[in-house]
Amino acid sequence: MVSGKVKKAVIPAAGLGTRFLPATKSVPKELLPIVDRPTIEHIVDEVHQSGIETAIIISRRGKSAILDHFERDVDLENKLKKEGKFELARRLNEQSELITIVSVRQSVPLGLGQAVYTARSLVGDEPFAVLLGDDIFDSSLPATLQLIQVFEKFQKPVVALMTVESSDISKFGCAGGEFIEENILEINSIIEKPSVEEAPSNFAVVGRYVLTPTVFEILKDLPPGKGGEIQLTDALAKLIEQEGLLGYFVDGYRFDAGDQLGFLMANIHFGLKNEKLKDRLIAFLKDEIKSS
Ligand code: UTP
Repeated sequence: MVSGKVKKAVIPAAGLGTRFLPATKSVPKELLPIVDRPTIEHIVDEVHQSGIETAIIISRRGKSAILDHFERDVDLENKLKKEGKFELARRLNEQSELITIVSVRQSVPLGLGQAVYTARSLVGDEPFAVLLGDDIFDSSLPATLQLIQVFEKFQKPVVALMTVESSDISKFGCAGGEFIEENILEINSIIEKPSVEEAPSNFAVVGRYVLTPTVFEILKDLPPGKGGEIQLTDALAKLIEQEGLLGYFVDGYRFDAGDQLGFLMANIHFGLKNEKLKDRLIAFLKDEIKSS
């Protein structure tokens, strides 16, 4: 039975980040800055702005710095205050004061499905959101809140979708189905990283989900799928049979900050939104484009 308010968000951040090596050898990709804030802060912001009270960060050995980032540093705060930098001192703690941030470790990176499964006892028996730790959305209504609204209206789990070039579909989970509203697909098939021939559509699953605890029961016995990993997509394929599954085309920009090009694009996007940087960044980009 699917019911209840979404009060918890799972943020899987235990991946190896191989697409961004060597940058991510010792620095977690979730801490790489998008202008002045690490990627993970953008995600935690979205959690808070979506009305969620608790963020459960899935971490792993070598990525403790993500959690350190949310811990108070009283010495640093005092130093900033002495220098009159009150706003900066306030910002350092803002997020951990707004929501509860807890963590659980994934001992072996056995895939996104297994990462989500490690949060089962912290989530308990209620619906929950999943926000991938390297996917950033910028939208007037937070992406997760958009999904929650669909979940509440239809009482079915829902994943975020984006249309991609057919040639790119093999980088994503791919969903096929029938439209029930302009932006909402009733999903009847979902496949992890299909070949162009296998793909039921060019609708890619991107890093936001609202799921029900049934997914934990499915993940418990799920065998490894593509790449030998426990795939969340495979669990969602089974969820279709039990509760149904919707796909929602999020209204907004999406950046894969765990990918080199996506990271650069996110920095340019947010740099152009920053009043202090905007004019000089535009001038620089114009010059660069002219001479490239
Ligand atoms: P990615 O596909 O981006 O994997 O995972 P990755 O390992 O982090 O990065 P690459 O592909 O090697 O560069 C999508 C999300 O799932 C998390 C990642 O941290 C990311 O947020 N993840 C993935 C886990 O938490 N555990 C895993 O075992 C795998």
